Amino acid sequence: MEVIHLKNFNLTIKTAEVSDAKMLRDFVKFVANDSQYLLRSSDEEFTLTIEQEADWIKKAAEHENSIILIGLVGDEVIAVTDAHGGKRKRIAHIAHLGTSVAKKLRGQGVGQAMMMALCNWARANKNLEYLELSVMGDNIPARSLYKKLGFVEVANKPNSFKYKDGSYQDEIVMRLKVES
Ligand SMILES: CC(C)(COP(=O)(O)OP(=O)(O)OC[C@H]1O[C@@H](n2cnc3c(N)ncnc32)[C@H](O)[C@@H]1OP(=O)(O)O)[C@@H](O)C(=O)NCCC(=O)NCCS
Repeated sequence: MEVIHLKNFNLTIKTAEVSDAKMLRDFVKFVANDSQYLLRSSDEEFTLTIEQEADWIKKAAEHENSIILIGLVGDEVIAVTDAHGGKRKRIAHIAHLGTSVAKKLRGQGVGQAMMMALCNWARANKNLEYLELSVMGDNIPARSLYKKLGFVEVANKPNSFKYKDGSYQDEIVMRLKVES
């Protein structure tokens, strides 16, 4: 657990435990409606029960190439950043990540603090060589954050994301080399 002193509040970053299942599930459901840049278009696409969420946390804790980080202000979950390493040997050196911050606290350093904590974990992990993510082409805040932390664009997959109105967004794949 670490406490980051941001300008307006303190952010506590901790690794998710099984006992966090309900608050983590509630946050992920909440944030699905809070951003157009996530894979789930609404919380209706998030159907995990608390037991399934607990199982997901347990599996990540047992897998040395995976981690789920929770960001808290006081007792409230306001950010989640997770990375999951490949299960097969040939892809175990790469972990795919996702991150989200509650809309009301964006633009105040939380996303960067969460991502830095994740990068530090990845650098200390002897099996990991890359962190990788997919981001929607028009998600400028996220692309800027990743670029600032040293991620580079390695692929652009046209029209991977389709919206209700029939429009598309490209999928930008970004990677950070983390091996020392
Ligand atoms: C992307 C996201 C995680 C960033 O978190 P955040 O807490 O708002 O970001 P921070 O305040 O820590 O900002 C860190 C850096 O990100 C970039 N950034 C953040 N908001 C930005 C904005 N609105 N426009 C451009 N760049 C932005 C900047 O490089 C910023 O550094 P700076 O403050 O020195 O300019 C957050 O906007 C979010 O949760 N968005 C919705 C979900 C999402 O898009 N997740 C990523 C899916 S791939």
